[in-house]
Amino acid sequence: MTTTPNGSVTFSIDGTNRSTKLPVHKGTLGPDVVDIRKLYADLGVFTFDPGYGETASCESTITYIDGDEGVLLYRGYPIEQLAEHSDFIEVCYLLMNGELPSAAQLKDFKKGVTYHTMVHEQIRRFFDGFRRDAHPMAVMCGVVGALAAFYHDNLDINDPEQRRIAAFRLIAKVPTIAAMAYKYSLGQPFVYPRNDLDYAANFLYMLNAVPAEPYQVSPVLAKAMDRILVLHADHEQNASTSTVRLAGSTGANPFACIAAGIAALWGPAHGGANEAVLKMLGEIGHAKNIPSFIEKVKDKNSNVKLMGFGHRVYKNFDPRAKIMQKTCHEVLGELGITDEPLLDLAMELERIAIHDDYFVSRKLYPNVDFYSGIILKAMGIPTSMFTVIFAVARTVGWVSQWKEMIEDPSQRIGRPRQIYTGAPRRDYVPAAQRG
Ligand code: CMC
Repeated sequence: MTTTPNGSVTFSIDGTNRSTKLPVHKGTLGPDVVDIRKLYADLGVFTFDPGYGETASCESTITYIDGDEGVLLYRGYPIEQLAEHSDFIEVCYLLMNGELPSAAQLKDFKKGVTYHTMVHEQIRRFFDGFRRDAHPMAVMCGVVGALAAFYHDNLDINDPEQRRIAAFRLIAKVPTIAAMAYKYSLGQPFVYPRNDLDYAANFLYMLNAVPAEPYQVSPVLAKAMDRILVLHADHEQNASTSTVRLAGSTGANPFACIAAGIAALWGPAHGGANEAVLKMLGEIGHAKNIPSFIEKVKDKNSNVKLMGFGHRVYKNFDPRAKIMQKTCHEVLGELGITDEPLLDLAMELERIAIHDDYFVSRKLYPNVDFYSGIILKAMGIPTSMFTVIFAVARTVGWVSQWKEMIEDPSQRIGRPRQIYTGAPRRDYVPAAQRG
């Protein structure tokens, strides 16, 4: 570890005289961390932490979350300030490099990203192999992973220059592939990227333009998309980021690692929640049905969750949800949508839930996904693309975390242990002799 211990904890096993002193490390912010690496050697025991809720799996300088206070910092900068004053490409630079760029550095960085926005023409052929009704996240898992097949001369993860280029390629090409997945589902021609447009505007252009007529990207929509990308860019050691790190810890190439991250993001407990929120609101249908829906959520046997609510780390509020709710009102206002029944329904659902003891006692508040789907819907983006947009935004976070891991001298293959509760050792019995 790069931190020096500033204390220790003594672990002892009851009823024995075995004990050991373990170092305690302090980060810049956040709770102290007990370094248990010598625990097995000293005492012969493991720790048990399903879901890793109490386990720091790495040191990181990228993102900090204080779940009790509702704080999210990218490289020390509060998300509220970045959402208000920065933009996605600058946030990409910040996450990747640790500092905000000078004007010249930003110009170079933008050039680096735009230089890589096109994909190899052969990639078009991949799409013919997918059904038109394939979920775009299925297409993303396949095509992003397949990028490795196009850059096999540049997959040496130990070469900093090859790592740098892979990072640019991923940040630049993931929106192109996402837009292709969408166009394919519609049966429309693929739209090539336009490097004169900003990142978010170019993404919207590739999603919405058709060759038959000119398409002007709405600045209101581009700004809203940019804000959504900023809010989703990184989030510490969440499930998909940990998946990227775990895959990367084996030495796997970055394209394969990011494809693994996309797969993990797809689940409804993670990035798939934005899609699930809209589905849920559609099923509730009307405010009068909220109480019976809430009753179902509270019934443990129903397996129904209030999607867009709750978070492993945020136990107060998710700061991204606050910004997202504000953005939702702004976007609907700027688009002249004065009556959006889904927004009214979501707000009423939130109002009822945050006053209900079930949610209050469990510290369940709206998360980033509760309002993002409503904005995306208002922007004309279909529900099946919501999680894809999350993946576009999170690619920079995954790449930054992957790069940080590879550059960490203490990095080793990720390999958790277990409590084995299966059968003890027994001898094989031939089939004819089994009772
Ligand atoms: N609706 C109803 N009950 C819930 C919910 C919910 N959305 N979330 C948690 N609970 C209950 C849970 O059943 C448990 O109750 P009990 O103590 O009686 O057993 C208690 O709250 C603690 O929950 P948990 O399952 O231990 O919490 P977790 O940290 O393991 O799960 C979560 C976090 C985000 C997976 C979960 O809250 C959830 O499934 N939420 C809905 C899906 C969602 O919105 N996901 C997006 C997360 S934010 C964006 C992202 O990171 O991708």
